[in-house]
Amino acid sequence: MDKKFYITTPIYYPSAKPHMGHAYSSIIADFFARFKRIDGFQVHFLTGTDEHGLKIQRSAEKENFDPKQFCDQISETFRNLSKTLNLTNTDFIRTTEDRHKKTVQYLWNELLKNDDIYLSKYSGWYSVSDEAFYTEDEIEEIDDNKRSISSKSFVEWIEEESYFFRLSKWEKPLLEYYDNHPEFISPLSRKNEVVSFVKGGLKDLSVSRKSFSWGIKVPNDKDHVIYVWLDALTNYISALNYPDKNDKLYKDFWPASIHLIGKDILRFHAVYWPAFLLAAKIELPLKVYGHGWILSGDEKMSKSKGNILDPIEIIKKYGLDPLRYYLIKEVSFGNDGNISQERLEDCINSDLANNFGNLCQRVTAFAIKNCDSLVPKDIEFQNDDLIILNKYKDNLEKIRKKIDNQDINFYIEYIVNSLFEANKYFNDQEPWKKKDDLNRLNTIVYTTLEIVRKISFLLFPIIPESSLKALKIFDLSENDIMLSTIENNEFLTKGNKINKIDILFKKIEKNND
Ligand code: MSP
Repeated sequence: MDKKFYITTPIYYPSAKPHMGHAYSSIIADFFARFKRIDGFQVHFLTGTDEHGLKIQRSAEKENFDPKQFCDQISETFRNLSKTLNLTNTDFIRTTEDRHKKTVQYLWNELLKNDDIYLSKYSGWYSVSDEAFYTEDEIEEIDDNKRSISSKSFVEWIEEESYFFRLSKWEKPLLEYYDNHPEFISPLSRKNEVVSFVKGGLKDLSVSRKSFSWGIKVPNDKDHVIYVWLDALTNYISALNYPDKNDKLYKDFWPASIHLIGKDILRFHAVYWPAFLLAAKIELPLKVYGHGWILSGDEKMSKSKGNILDPIEIIKKYGLDPLRYYLIKEVSFGNDGNISQERLEDCINSDLANNFGNLCQRVTAFAIKNCDSLVPKDIEFQNDDLIILNKYKDNLEKIRKKIDNQDINFYIEYIVNSLFEANKYFNDQEPWKKKDDLNRLNTIVYTTLEIVRKISFLLFPIIPESSLKALKIFDLSENDIMLSTIENNEFLTKGNKINKIDILFKKIEKNND
């Protein structure tokens, strides 16, 4: 079966330690990677760190570090965060690695060869924090300081010799591409932003800098380093060993299925990146999805604003799966979302402990006591049972489509409703009153156990550790979770052992003052 899926997160600036915004991008990417894997896809999942440029050079200088040593340290905290978040990334790329540098220089030469790069002089505004150029009408002056209107970061004037990429040449081809590939930029609301930016006219882009040295050298002109965004974006193909087009990774996984990014870096991914690729005659990724921001007190969480929520602290206090569940459920995907510990606690208490954890405990305790700790054998389904059992199979195709449209909200609502229904089914059927109709008692227990198994499968991409704990009821492991088992209606094996499991989620005592 030729089902391949390549997902990327942005590569993070190792200018400071990771915060919740970074954790968010990575957790969402992991959700998609895990879902696709249990749906039979071979998945390549890339994340990493973006280590060149003036922003990093200055951050290192401030700490009296050599930039490479500085990056070594902070990049390691991002690598560790991947482990802490239980990410299933199959690669972690650093832009200071040789494999990456080689690809960037090769791509540069391709662009040069195709006459897409020329030498000239740049003068204009630059934000080091965003590593972005801004025009006069994209900046404003507040208290004698010039800032970018969109990101509010400070800009400084630069004037220097620079190589330019002929971005203007790609204005029309880009607009045509957007038209012919309506889902290339998602969600739709973000596409309109990009299209009107491109329609407004594209100027050639400065793609090298001369006034500092922390970057990849321009081939044949050692006075220049390559613009950090041209360098960084290339990570998506350098990790697949481009330009070796016969390389298995490249052949299997390019074009990427989806670049998942935050909305603030959409222009780089939906305008510059496809223009570079068109110019180098490389296929374009299938989709660029710009998600919203995690807000803290209604503002984007960022180091410069000093309103950072540390994911590690939250995980220490509440555990990883509650954080994953909360970010996936409570931030309406594609939009901004405010996060609060109170809402996180509500999620733990109502959805995870009451709805999921409790269902698992109740049905296993009942089966252990009344069915000899075995999956019941002697069963006869009635209509009520079949309706609830077949629902999953019937909805799988719909779920797949929704996931391919990044409709995470649908997915999680589907699970929450299924859990309500399953609890209601168990309550309404009252198996504890069926002790003199063992066939009926067994059928209800069997049905509820089977639903627990199915919901645990669906929960795996969201709360992997807890889903696996729940599946210990049936002695199932990660290798056993395949959505095709739901599709093929391979029900639980009768007569198998039922295991007691530990409490999945502890309720949080809330102070109601
Ligand atoms: N290095 C570039 C990306 C290069 S990709 C070829 C970069 N790095 S970043 O560390 O500043 O940001 C990485 C990602 O984190 C971006 O997608 C950004 O949108 C996301 N987030 C940073 N703060 C965020 C929030 N407060 N909320 C959600 N995501 C945000 O940009």
